[in-house]
Amino acid sequence: MVVIRERNIGIGLLGLGTVGAGVVEILAQKSASYEKNLGFSIELIKILVADSHKTRDIQTNAKITTDFIDLIDDPRIDLIVEAIGGETPALEYIRKAIDSGKHVVTANKEVIAKYGPELIKHAVDNGVGIRFEASVGGGIPILRPLSRDLLANDFNKITTIINGTTNYMLTRMRLQNENYSAALEKSKSLGYAEPDPTADVEGIDAAYKLAILSSLAFKVRVRFEEVYVEGISNLDLADFVYAKELGYVVKLLAIAEKFDDGIQVRVHPSFVPMEHPLAKVNGVQNAIQLSGDLVGSVILEGPGAGKSPTASAIMGDIFEAAEAILEQKKLPPYPFGGNAAKIQHIDLLHSQYYLRIKVKDQPGVMAEISRALGDRDVSLASVIQKDLAVLDGSTEIVVTTHSALEASVRDAIASIRTQDAVIDVFNLIRIEEVIT
Ligand code: NAP
Ligand code: HSE
Repeated sequence: MVVIRERNIGIGLLGLGTVGAGVVEILAQKSASYEKNLGFSIELIKILVADSHKTRDIQTNAKITTDFIDLIDDPRIDLIVEAIGGETPALEYIRKAIDSGKHVVTANKEVIAKYGPELIKHAVDNGVGIRFEASVGGGIPILRPLSRDLLANDFNKITTIINGTTNYMLTRMRLQNENYSAALEKSKSLGYAEPDPTADVEGIDAAYKLAILSSLAFKVRVRFEEVYVEGISNLDLADFVYAKELGYVVKLLAIAEKFDDGIQVRVHPSFVPMEHPLAKVNGVQNAIQLSGDLVGSVILEGPGAGKSPTASAIMGDIFEAAEAILEQKKLPPYPFGGNAAKIQHIDLLHSQYYLRIKVKDQPGVMAEISRALGDRDVSLASVIQKDLAVLDGSTEIVVTTHSALEASVRDAIASIRTQDAVIDVFNLIRIEEVIT
């Protein structure tokens, strides 16, 4: 016998920070119109927070509690929305929600990158579903399209800007000459950064997202720990100046690329040619460029962080889960998992490179640098030697290379460092090609 249930979905929300507050506000403002359009109502029943005494600038009829079991034991709650972040206690709460037969929607990229396939299986075993659209790309719909609309494709490359905080910072540093700390503070005040922004600026947040994206796109399991990661904290304003002079902008890219003998997954600052579509993606915007065998190149762009865009992605997941609950259908699991991916070491990357070297201003230095590179089949594309008029008798040499093997470039740098006239080798930055 099919039980006809009330057209009402009860939500239990975990977390009332930037994202949680966004969900509360959207529901307060739009519940009536959602009910009209979708034919069911969504009721926020309880909200879990860490500190129930905190002063909050938010109105809600939902009960605010610090007791997770209060949500789990409430039969009116069909669906748990997790917006706490981090692994502990979010992972445990997600598992317990599934155990108790509640669907789960989460914005938590760390938990999904580390435990996504296990949680999906756990949900299937318990007859519920889990969705995590907000975990990648903020408001950009990307995981559902990858799992459905674009599923027919084989992808060979995903080039992305998937951290809003760092793209916002890099844009301000470039266009407003703002310093790193001021740009980070602004990003934190806008609610873009993670509670510990180290995850943003050191590329870890982007690595979580790339692990999720590449697992779904390549239909293998890419583990977060296998992603090669460099953040933006070692960039210097000088790199921005040289980038501009050479016709590039500096972006934190997260790239996954498939080769016959494995997959390369890497997050690092890149020089992106001005004419590249991702070069124009500024501020908190994110963009995901996919190359599929059937569809060709697709670029999805939108706000990658922030209260309303993230809550928008969560609402999309809630609607999908709500329909499955009301129609008593399964929420189909995303094809996230599969066999372990064979990951190619970063040393095997072929790329163009930018290198900034501080040297003593004396004859023959450039020749020695050229020899160290040339001996390893790394050919120079351009050289800039700046007369910085520095007081200490040093000068700065900036070289870009033609496409070369990363291992060779690193070996050349090790050799350059040993030269007497070389004071320091600063950033090695990869140069991204334009793919049309
Ligand atoms: P946030 O502003 O720091 O909010 C975290 C919330 O979780 C707070 O309300 C906090 O309670 C609550 N919380 C923390 N620890 C808890 C615990 N042990 N038990 C119960 N509640 C606890 O974080 P957020 O920016 O909203 O991010 C939440 C999640 O969304 C993270 O996974 C993040 O990566 C993801 N996300 C964020 C964005 C964004 O733009 N911010 C975008 C996409 C995805 P109190 O209020 O009482 O302190
Ligand atoms: N801290 C993250 C970012 C939030 O800046 O992209 C969105 O996932």
